[in-house]
Amino acid sequence: SQRTLVLFKPDAVRRGLIGELLGRIESKAGWTVAALELRTLGEETLEQHYSEHVGKPFYEPLVEFMQSGPSVVLVVEGERVIEGVRALAGPTDPIAAAPGSIRGDFGTIVRENLIHASDSEESAERELKIFFPNFG
Ligand code: GTP
Ligand code: MG
Repeated sequence: SQRTLVLFKPDAVRRGLIGELLGRIESKAGWTVAALELRTLGEETLEQHYSEHVGKPFYEPLVEFMQSGPSVVLVVEGERVIEGVRALAGPTDPIAAAPGSIRGDFGTIVRENLIHASDSEESAERELKIFFPNFG
């Protein structure tokens, strides 16, 4: 099975949506939460995590927003969990995301789109090392 790195972003935590988002993930058959921590992310961590976006116009405000309060950092394990959490999240732009998805149900602003989930096996491996360097 697979592991993926998931963040409930500061907007989700501020709005009291931790339980709602965690419930959607936990409800999926066979998936398990392998690690979970409330953590305020720092600039160095975010620069590594969002390295593909450094220099883009939305990068600086994104990193500022991501430091604006604690996030929930999770490792979720299970069958096809990388593709699966992306599907639960919905597309990046919450207005384009269908109702039923996390972003479609709760989001309006592209930057404040509630959740991050690794987008490939390569990204998952890279991101797990950034957030949980000592994880099995
Ligand atoms: P993540 O799971 O957070 O990585 O989202 P994603 O994979 O759906 O999007 P992507 O990696 O392309 O962008 C990372 C994050 O930057 C997004 O989740 C948004 O919060 C933000 N972002 C991406 N594109 C834009 C944009 O065009 N404008 C703004 N304001 N923010 C953006
Ligand atoms: Mg991404």
